[in-house]
Amino acid sequence: MEFFTSVIWLTVILLGVVYFYFRRKYSYWKNRGVPYIEPTFPLGNLSRKNIGNLREVFEKVYNMREKCPFVGAYFVVKPVAIATDLDFIKDVLVKDFNNFHGRGIHINEKDSPLSAHLFALDGPKWRSLRMKLSPTFTSGKMKYMFPSIVGVSEQFNQTLGEILHDQSDIDVKEILSCFTTDVIGTCAFGVECNSLKDPNAVFREYGRKVLKPSKLRSIALVLARTSKLAATLRLSVFGKDITNFFIGIVRQTIEHREKNNVKRNDFMDLLIDLKNNDTLDEDKKIKLEKLTLEQVAAQAFVFFVAGFETSSTTMMFALYELALNQEIQDKLRTEINTVCAKHGGRLTYEAMNDMVYLGQVVNETLRKHPPVVVLQRVAQDDYKVANTKLVIEKGTTVMVPTYQIQHDERYYPNPEKFDPDRFLPEVCKSRHPMTFLSFGDGPRNCIGLRFGRLQSRVGLAMLLKNYRFEPSEKTPIPKKLLPRGGILASVDRLHLKIIKI
Ligand code: HEM
Repeated sequence: MEFFTSVIWLTVILLGVVYFYFRRKYSYWKNRGVPYIEPTFPLGNLSRKNIGNLREVFEKVYNMREKCPFVGAYFVVKPVAIATDLDFIKDVLVKDFNNFHGRGIHINEKDSPLSAHLFALDGPKWRSLRMKLSPTFTSGKMKYMFPSIVGVSEQFNQTLGEILHDQSDIDVKEILSCFTTDVIGTCAFGVECNSLKDPNAVFREYGRKVLKPSKLRSIALVLARTSKLAATLRLSVFGKDITNFFIGIVRQTIEHREKNNVKRNDFMDLLIDLKNNDTLDEDKKIKLEKLTLEQVAAQAFVFFVAGFETSSTTMMFALYELALNQEIQDKLRTEINTVCAKHGGRLTYEAMNDMVYLGQVVNETLRKHPPVVVLQRVAQDDYKVANTKLVIEKGTTVMVPTYQIQHDERYYPNPEKFDPDRFLPEVCKSRHPMTFLSFGDGPRNCIGLRFGRLQSRVGLAMLLKNYRFEPSEKTPIPKKLLPRGGILASVDRLHLKIIKI
């Protein structure tokens, strides 16, 4: 009996401690006079049904945007500041970047070497790596890689033609993922693959594995982004099979190239260079450390993951919008054909740069459907928010809700309308620079921006030159969107009718 009473007492005390712990944590924003969205025990503002989907949080926050440059929320017990004011966002991403240079993502280099990639690293390690990798993405380097991208697009076109003999109603996301997987497989790993011909192609299979949505992966991603618990648990977001595959393929490629003196002017060549040769810092005074094989693999891995899904998602939404807006599709096809005719009937690097309307269509697609729906930074020190008495404390995560900003009718009237003329140069100039954040901004913006744009434009130009896209019976209208593994996706498969021209 005495034992039973002790257990009841202990339980009551434990529940009391838990209650007061959460109450104290959940009063963080209230105590600082910051408007916040009411948290619920135990996940804070994360949704129980779909922990990885932050959209609900951002929508609620955005409705309170007039009250303060940012709104408070809680991810489990961690306070997160969600920025809604464009000037404040500019301060965080650009002006006061030195205080916001990290994303605060958990890295477990020992158990999961692939986690130490450019997107996740912080501090001096990030700075040094970003400096080493930036020359990899100049327009000169893009020009070198251009023939590889066009080569993949021609092969893709041929295989698509064969598939269309038997069917015309196609899940466009799947075929576009095959295209971008092959492009990045060639440019980042030097591995020629034809995923469209061979649905079990090994790169496509690992692409699917890396982005496979699961509750456990979603929880791991949220923890890795926001929690010290991730370090305590030695959390690895990617399993051993994924790690072994990518490190193995990089080792094989490097050995093959070094043994046979193969040069291909691609990402892998540049990474091998950073493994074998010293580089200098910005002032050309300090020697930077060479990359290890694992570091090379982690960067090739992030180019692969960041490169194939974002671009195929962009192309998918572009084709969807063009199928629903036939007059825009016709105008774009006329531009593609006219420019190609001027360049000897071929898709050359110069021809791509002359396709101005295509650039506008891609921008409007990225505006309406930003593949990365949120940006993230962590305050390195206490930070006073301009024109307020508020302070963002050291270690606080600041998030920027790209999707909501790009659907705000104050900046984009009638935001659900697909209108590439929003990106005419004079119209762009009239908008605040923080109203388009699909590639982020400031020194930590997307390093692969040029490559992402280029492969999306080449893919779209090749497809629109050869095929017409129309909605089919299976096309979801309107479509429902859901960020999956951090990337915007359609809930239903996006089927379109593809007709050879
Ligand atoms: C349409 C295509 C793409 C979109 C929309 C996109 C979007 C983004 C966004 C929003 C960020 C975060 C920026 C920030 O926090 O300010 C980012 C970072 C990054 N992206 Fe991309 N991306 C694309 C293509 C690519 C490609 C093709 C690559 C590589 C080949 C790439 C590699 C990276 C890397 C490594 C980072 C981290 C940069 C750093 O932290 O220094 N991305 N991307």
